[in-house]
Amino acid sequence: MTPDEKLESVLKRQTRFAELIHVQSCDSTQDLAAQEPAGGNEMSGDAVFWADHQIQGRGRQQRYWDDEAGLDLAVTLRVTTKLSNPVALPAALPVAVLQACEPIAGQSLRIKWPNDVYAHDRKLSGVLIDRDTARPDTYRIGVGINANRTKFEGALADIGTSLALLSGKQQDRHALVLALATRVDAMVAAIEHSDLREHEALFRERLGLLNERVEVHARETVVGTLTAIDFANLVLDERITVPLAIVRSLRRAP
Ligand code: BTN
Repeated sequence: MTPDEKLESVLKRQTRFAELIHVQSCDSTQDLAAQEPAGGNEMSGDAVFWADHQIQGRGRQQRYWDDEAGLDLAVTLRVTTKLSNPVALPAALPVAVLQACEPIAGQSLRIKWPNDVYAHDRKLSGVLIDRDTARPDTYRIGVGINANRTKFEGALADIGTSLALLSGKQQDRHALVLALATRVDAMVAAIEHSDLREHEALFRERLGLLNERVEVHARETVVGTLTAIDFANLVLDERITVPLAIVRSLRRAP
């Protein structure tokens, strides 16, 4: 069995992902997951799309997502499920990424609003969720993780880090895909079962802003002490409730 065949077989047995599509290169795994039929001939079988290199990797807000061919991880986990609470997904996703990466990084990671995973002041991972109106119950959960790159150049020189740099050794990307898919599977199950307490607790802890003075950009800009936050709302000064769905930025007040 090849490493891909082994990984696919474990994914099939242990998670909802019945198929692994691993390509050398594509424009973006988000687009691959939108085009590629999987799960028989259905367009929406739960599957993992993994590229060793993306030519047009997409970040949030139309930004470009950079990877180093064969070293980093660009994965889209395509999930079809009826979620009564889909707004929880963008906040819960970095928790799953963090759970997959922390044992490898050997240190606590943090979440930077809205859903980046950082080690201290350097970005390790970013996520992107696509959904289209034709298939509203299908989520294309894109995760980029700097895995085995050890040099960041240009604009990334002072802001990027990788699992290899954090752990001091090259990492097995097949094991990383399995860890990620396992955590994403469990996180989606937690949303399906409305059992998010554990994920919310870790989210609060790793966001590190509870009881801090923060600045929130939503319909307007509000400054106050963050007294509560879960996957639905945040609360300032115990009385101003802001739905996360309208929060554009959340950071420590200057
Ligand atoms: C961000 O931090 O702005 C989000 C980055 C998301 C990158 C991942 S890599 C796999 C998937 N395919 C893409 O084109 N983007 C996401």
